[in-house]
Amino acid sequence: MQQISVIAGPASRDLAERIAKNLDAKLVNTELKVFSDGESKITITDKIEQKCVIIQSTYPPADSHILQLLMIAKKCIDGGAQDICAIIPYLAYARQDRVFLEGEVVSIALIAKLIEAVGIKHVMTVDIHSKVAVPYFASGLTNISSIPLLANFATSKMNLQKPIVVSPDAGGIERAGEFSRILDTDMISLKKSRDRKTGDVKIDENININISGRDAILIDDMISSGGSIIRAAEVLQKKGAEKIYAMCAHALLLDNAVRKIKAAGGNDIIATNSIPGEWAKVDLSHTISEELKNLYALA
Ligand code: R5P
Repeated sequence: MQQISVIAGPASRDLAERIAKNLDAKLVNTELKVFSDGESKITITDKIEQKCVIIQSTYPPADSHILQLLMIAKKCIDGGAQDICAIIPYLAYARQDRVFLEGEVVSIALIAKLIEAVGIKHVMTVDIHSKVAVPYFASGLTNISSIPLLANFATSKMNLQKPIVVSPDAGGIERAGEFSRILDTDMISLKKSRDRKTGDVKIDENININISGRDAILIDDMISSGGSIIRAAEVLQKKGAEKIYAMCAHALLLDNAVRKIKAAGGNDIIATNSIPGEWAKVDLSHTISEELKNLYALA
């Protein structure tokens, strides 16, 4: 697949290397300079093929990572690219997919427009927060589920005892359901509410199943401030869970979330490499490469 350039955005260099290797495609590096005022400068000196795949996750600093993605796409177009696919493993702003409180901007709609305007034809992401955002990507968005990979990690590496899968909220039932079917175990959903103004999370302590002595796996699309997982872990610990694991696609882990999750009884955090770092234990590169082969109809 040498006729495709896989371009390593500054936020996803390791993932890009893995994908280029899987596809036997040319890896193009990007050089990043961040000036003291926070502006980014991207330099690409390698020759670019007509088909380009840009790998750039948009975890914090989200705005900078988004702008860097747009800059890379612009450079590809200027270099003669005809077909650009952006792999954005963690898609920032996907949670603002509607107006929740009067006066808000639907940020993901704007992000989708910017991506399209710069000439990106197709977007692939992993576990988009909700499907509501998908239609904003007029030229096409592929949403890859990390659940089979996370579940495979759980069954092969975690030595779980009497596991129970737990969704921290009703919005995650489908995800947790898929995960529990792969583990062939049961699943419960907690009842979460969040104050839209303060962001404070509350979780109802009533659980209609005995989880005492069982290993609980909290599964979510992302851990951001950790508020959801922390409150959920506190409830599970109170109810006698043996071990508590937090698994997610995207481990942003802001605001000292790791310390707080551990203090709430969390034993470990397992995430994908949509965001590089200590908790990125599950590699997405093979699944993304297979999706790219499908997109480009390659064997
Ligand atoms: C909410 O609906 C999401 O699925 C996550 O539970 C949430 O975004 C995680 O955010 P935080 O870690 O700040 O609670």
